[in-house]
Amino acid sequence: MWVTRFRSLCLAFGLLCLFTFLFFLQLYQGFLSQGLQLLAQCPKCSRVPPRINCSHPNSSVVRAQPHAALPGIWTILPSGRLGNQMGQYATLLALAQLNGRQAFILPSMHRVLAPIFRTSLPVLAPEVENQTSWQNLWLHDWMSAEYEHLPQLWLKLSGYPCSWTFFHHLRELIRQEFTLHAHVRDQAQAQLRDLRLGPAGHRPRTFVGVHVRRGDYVEVMPKIWKGVVGDRAYLQKALDWFRARHPAPIFVVVSNDMVWCRENINASQGDVVFSGDGKEGTPSRDFALLTQCNHTVMTVGTFGFWAAYLAGGDTVYLANFTLPDSPFLKLFKPEAAFLPQWVGIPADLSPLH
Ligand SMILES: *[C@@H]1O[C@H](CO)[C@@H](O)[C@H](O)[C@H]1NC(C)=O
Ligand SMILES: *[C@@H]1O[C@H](CO)[C@@H](O)[C@H](O)[C@H]1NC(C)=O
Ligand SMILES: *[C@@H]1O[C@H](CO)[C@@H](O)[C@H](O)[C@H]1NC(C)=O
Repeated sequence: MWVTRFRSLCLAFGLLCLFTFLFFLQLYQGFLSQGLQLLAQCPKCSRVPPRINCSHPNSSVVRAQPHAALPGIWTILPSGRLGNQMGQYATLLALAQLNGRQAFILPSMHRVLAPIFRTSLPVLAPEVENQTSWQNLWLHDWMSAEYEHLPQLWLKLSGYPCSWTFFHHLRELIRQEFTLHAHVRDQAQAQLRDLRLGPAGHRPRTFVGVHVRRGDYVEVMPKIWKGVVGDRAYLQKALDWFRARHPAPIFVVVSNDMVWCRENINASQGDVVFSGDGKEGTPSRDFALLTQCNHTVMTVGTFGFWAAYLAGGDTVYLANFTLPDSPFLKLFKPEAAFLPQWVGIPADLSPLH
């Protein structure tokens, strides 16, 4: 009796071992073929498959994985500051999706974006970047038909694209990609809470982020682009636009020249708050603060665009801020830069005459 039981026990154990072995074999083969497919995609760097770099302490969660069914890799050259790189990121994401390619960002873009946002595009290992023979494509700043069918497999995009015409059909995804890390958002919310506790007490208030881009632009706009930056009269009109439409708004002013703002923005109605004292604020803190406001006043620049796009409320922008023969208009199409529902207030170009 016990002999048969012993035999069936042995048999069961043997079968268990066999199944376990087969299971792991299959798993291993799965890994192997996936690895091989990845290697096969990369013409020159046959030994180094694209690697996801999670070494940054504030590294975002990487959700996108290299997908064996999609051949080729696209990336974009990071250039400029936060707003420019957000534009480059969003454009890469949208064009890669449209053309069925995998998008990877370069480490320097990750270093700019990942401390603030929970971006998901994987980071290309430097050795893969160096060993790939890239094709290059400079992008103009509006979507066009030629970008819908790009044959390049190993493509490094460049330029300063920041037009909603590339990515607005993916706005939910873009908003998700640019979700603030919790600690960044909480800090901005705490700042707004402190403002609310002012004279108006605990009533819910409407916050209007006001981004006043100055610094180098004050020189560069007239000298190179035959244009102006937002002046005192524009800001007065923009703030009044909100005062006429929202009960008791609070204007939160963010700028890289707070000294100018304090002298030129009329705060006599007690509804204007100047954020920070420094000439240069901390861009990530300033940016987070603007996105947590309900509405936006922009002046010029991509930083303001992104703050307005992510805040998602009413937006007032400086319109027609260059002369009609400005070389800027060869690179920049207003109708591709400002959402149709945003409200433009024309600039005073008289200082240029
Ligand atoms: C991310 O960076 C912020 C600011 O530099 C820091 O306060 C925070 O602790 C960091 N988070 C992690 C997970 O390292
Ligand atoms: C306005 O922004 C504040 C701060 O982010 C938020 O608490 C409030 O819910 C927003 N109001 C509306 C109507 O969205
Ligand atoms: C900007 O100029 C164009 C062309 O002159 C005009 O059609 C448009 O209405 C102007 N925009 C604003 C907001 O004034």
